[in-house]
This record gives sequence, C-alpha cells and structure tokens, in this order.
Amino acid sequence: MIASERGVNNLGMQGHDKSDKRVCVGTVQEILAAGRKRTEIADRDIVVIAHRGNFYALDSFCYHAGGPLHQGDIEDMGQEACIVCPWHKYKITLGTGQGLYMAVDPFNLKKQPELKSKGVKQRTHVVTIEHGQVFVTLSSVDTKLDSDHYNCAEYRHTFNLG
Ligand code: FES
Repeated sequence: MIASERGVNNLGMQGHDKSDKRVCVGTVQEILAAGRKRTEIADRDIVVIAHRGNFYALDSFCYHAGGPLHQGDIEDMGQEACIVCPWHKYKITLGTGQGLYMAVDPFNLKKQPELKSKGVKQRTHVVTIEHGQVFVTLSSVDTKLDSDHYNCAEYRHTFNLG
C-alpha cells in the first residue's frame, strides 16, 4: 500500500477543524497521473500536488509577489520536499508552507551555507483520501499568512489572472 492510500499526509499541519467541509478535488489516479491539479475552493486558488506517494495542497500563488507557484518544480532542501517558485526561485515546503533558504555567513565565506526557515509563509490545506478520491479541507488557521493576499478571488480578478 502506498502512503497516499493510507489516507492522509499533512493532517493538522495548519489547523484541521473536523467541522470544516472537505471538497473532493479529483481521484487519486487522476492526480497521481498528472502530478498536480489546480482548482478553486470557496474562491481560493489551490494546487494539489502528488509527490512520492503523498498528497499536498497549497495556495497556488507565491507569497513573495504572487508568482505562479503551481507551475514550480519540486526539489529537496535537506529532508524537505519543496516547490520552487518559477519567478524568483523561492523554495516552499510542500507539507508546511515554510519558506526555506540557504544562509551564508558574509563574514566567513568558507563556512558551509546553512539551511534556514523564514517560518510559515504559504498557506497549506489538509488533504484526505477516501475510496480513491482526494479531498481538500481549507486551512482553518486564523493567523494571516503572506500568501493570503494573492490567492483570493478579489486579487485574481483585479489583475485578470486565470
Ligand atoms: S513571486 Fe515567487 S519567488 Fe517571487
């Protein structure tokens, strides 16, 4: 059994409230085959990503300046799978939405760069799997996150984004 069939990948990462309504976004087979699927839930633009047998859901547009994060490549930084924004190459963890970077000590350039986190910047959402269907429950975390600005219908319509 692959991990995705067990049902959950990032439950609880950003506040899962059991009373929230989950939305079916497609079949496991469909999303595994495509690798990702962009969708809209309650006026929020979301990308669902299948990676190494797990499913993740994040806001589609990058917290930095609204770049098309949903089109980014996926690469590892340390132990973390990250999506890389096509615009300015910011790296965001799939599971938690943290912005990661390699810190260089400008006073000691011989020192190895260190992996650091800027904290959670991109909103992630809860994914559950049931009977071969993929469901997303929108994050219920009240704290405003940087990606919130770029992923609401008002912003996308103002700038005529798809
Ligand atoms: S818009 Fe994504 S890195 Fe700048």
